[in-house]
Amino acid sequence: MSVEVENLKFYYRTRKGSVKALDDVSFSIADGEILGIAGESGCGKSTLSNGLIHVCPPMELAGGSVRLDGKNLPLDKPDEMNTYRFRNLSIIPQYALNAMNPTVKIGRYVQDLMQSRGIDYSAIEKLFADRLRFVRLPEGIQKRYPIELSGGMKQRVVMVISTLLNPSLLLCDEITSALDVSTQKVVSALVAAFRDEKIVKSVSFVTHDVPVLYQIADRILIMYAGQVAEAGPTEEIIHAAKHPYTQALVAAMPEMASTYRQKKHASIPGKPPALLDPPEGCRFKERCPYRMPCCDERPQKRLVGNGHEVYCWKEDL
Ligand SMILES: Nc1ncnc2c1ncn2[C@@H]1O[C@H](COP(=O)(O)OP(=O)(O)OP(=O)(O)O)[C@@H](O)[C@H]1O
Ligand SMILES: [Mg+2]
Repeated sequence: MSVEVENLKFYYRTRKGSVKALDDVSFSIADGEILGIAGESGCGKSTLSNGLIHVCPPMELAGGSVRLDGKNLPLDKPDEMNTYRFRNLSIIPQYALNAMNPTVKIGRYVQDLMQSRGIDYSAIEKLFADRLRFVRLPEGIQKRYPIELSGGMKQRVVMVISTLLNPSLLLCDEITSALDVSTQKVVSALVAAFRDEKIVKSVSFVTHDVPVLYQIADRILIMYAGQVAEAGPTEEIIHAAKHPYTQALVAAMPEMASTYRQKKHASIPGKPPALLDPPEGCRFKERCPYRMPCCDERPQKRLVGNGHEVYCWKEDL
């Protein structure tokens, strides 16, 4: 098992109190697996990815642990985490497309980045060129400025940089969201290729775009208001979801070949709770059509199939 996350909590310390953005989350990612993570805006997807890379104020580690290849990550010690970042785990952050300095050529940018990490660029220059070819970027791209590249090309450059040292875990946060549909497909196919070629061992692929996950994820984890609602094999989550929230989320996916007039998108009534002071018990209860008195208590994890787990009190799941 590459990744084992147990009871992880990342809170944001604010003047009004702690925002419980990630609150007691447990999951694992097997070797060679792409775990898709989905959920509404604000449910804690970026908090999870960013916290695994760098816990810094106002974010704090409020509990839990993460093991990567059998070793506990020192999440609360940013300096110690420096030795893991990039080498053992790496992130392609949300909005990474615009992260590169537009006035610095790509080759120079990577050279500076490697230097800041104590890595000899000349030793990996050839590997960098090979990887740029692997993601089908034209020759000589190192001599170009980011501003000269399309969004899809920039995204591929960022992917190459993030995976240059073959990290065990690659965290992708909304890496396809700003791209057109065909470029989305290229980028997600490349993530799978990185895994297939064993450049990375496992991938956490965060998006609110469930159809993208259907294409590339081996398993899907659905988050709601900072917690896990359901996790399981992709086919089961898409075609046989058990949690009322997952069912509503899948039903809300727009169908191809039907216009808005023909079929109004099913939406989930209500909105997620504020994470500054979330309600006791199941966080979905206010919006759930099956609400029962026991929902005031937090549901325990229930195994409903092979590797399929659901956090819900409903009896006939
Ligand atoms: N710096 C911060 N200070 C306080 N609260 C924060 C901070 N950053 C995020 N939050 C809160 O944490 C919660 C989770 O945010 P996060 O960005 O992880 O959501 P997300 O699932 O990635 O959303 P999206 O799909 O829009 O990217 C939200 O309620 C957000 O308002
Ligand atoms: Mg996000």
